[in-house]
Amino acid sequence: MRASAPLLALLLLGARAQHSSEWTYSEGALDEAHWPREYPTCGGTRQSPIDLQRRKVQYNPSLKALNLSGYEVQAGEFPMVNNGHTVQISLPPSMRMTASDGTQYIAEQLHFHWGGASSEISGSEHTIDGIRFVAEIHIVHYNSKYKSYDIAQSEPDGLAVLAALVEVTDFGENTYYSNFIAHLNNIRYPGQSMVLSGLDILDMLPENVHHYYSYRGSLTTPPCTENVHWFVLVRHVPLSSAQIWKLENSVVDHQNKTLHNDYRRTQPLNNRVVETNLINLPNQVLARDSRRSKMLSNILS
Ligand SMILES: *[C@@H]1O[C@H](CO)[C@@H](O)[C@H](O)[C@H]1NC(C)=O
Ligand SMILES: *[C@@H]1O[C@H](CO)[C@@H](O)[C@H](O)[C@H]1NC(C)=O
Repeated sequence: MRASAPLLALLLLGARAQHSSEWTYSEGALDEAHWPREYPTCGGTRQSPIDLQRRKVQYNPSLKALNLSGYEVQAGEFPMVNNGHTVQISLPPSMRMTASDGTQYIAEQLHFHWGGASSEISGSEHTIDGIRFVAEIHIVHYNSKYKSYDIAQSEPDGLAVLAALVEVTDFGENTYYSNFIAHLNNIRYPGQSMVLSGLDILDMLPENVHHYYSYRGSLTTPPCTENVHWFVLVRHVPLSSAQIWKLENSVVDHQNKTLHNDYRRTQPLNNRVVETNLINLPNQVLARDSRRSKMLSNILS
């Protein structure tokens, strides 16, 4: 029976591989409370997302704006897939983000987190002073000192994510999202994919990308690797409520149920520090109101 040891190893590997596709946010044996059982790092001390508490965020005047290059409108072939957990678009390596410390990161993919289940509509992962925003966009990058994402993903300085929070506006649709949202119907089922013929990531981000919160955390999905330099933009992406509704209700998960609430709960900050390069963080409510009155005065004038 000597041959049975490698066979057993293979069987275990198979079981493990099968298991790894079964994690969920709220249903089944491997819901987020149980991720650490299969993925021990998910129980670590430097996890993401977190609640960004503006009173505790430290202003660091030496943090420069991110240099986002190749983010402008571009033609090409950009695969978009429903992977059963979210909608994900593959990005070209010509998209680069250089952080204030000079580290250059190469874009890999972008995806979304949203809510939509029953009465609870919000689904951002990071929260601001406990407030959950309607959705969140993540642009995942890897450190350019590594040859590929696959290599970088297990290195301690391997990854960086540029994140933006989405808010609902009453001022019509955000046309920079129209193409993306119109194509969600084509990838309704997990495993379905299509190819976008153009991308304009810069315009899918907030108008002002200079100011951000920065901290060291993890991937927000298994295996929750603690090697992510997070940059969460202070300003938000406006989408209309109809656009939000389509994002929340167009794709289904592995059980053929509408993919709702694909966000992880916030994790303890522990002894980490969140920094920002904006000296006076805006009051969210005032920021929204002032934009509303500015837009109103534009409409009225
Ligand atoms: C931004 O990064 C790009 C490519 O990484 C580089 O060519 C460009 O000079 C940088 N711009 C600034 C202002 O540093
Ligand atoms: C999901 O629904 C589609 C279309 O009705 C069907 O073809 C497919 O078999 C279903 N999958 C599961 C896992 O139920």
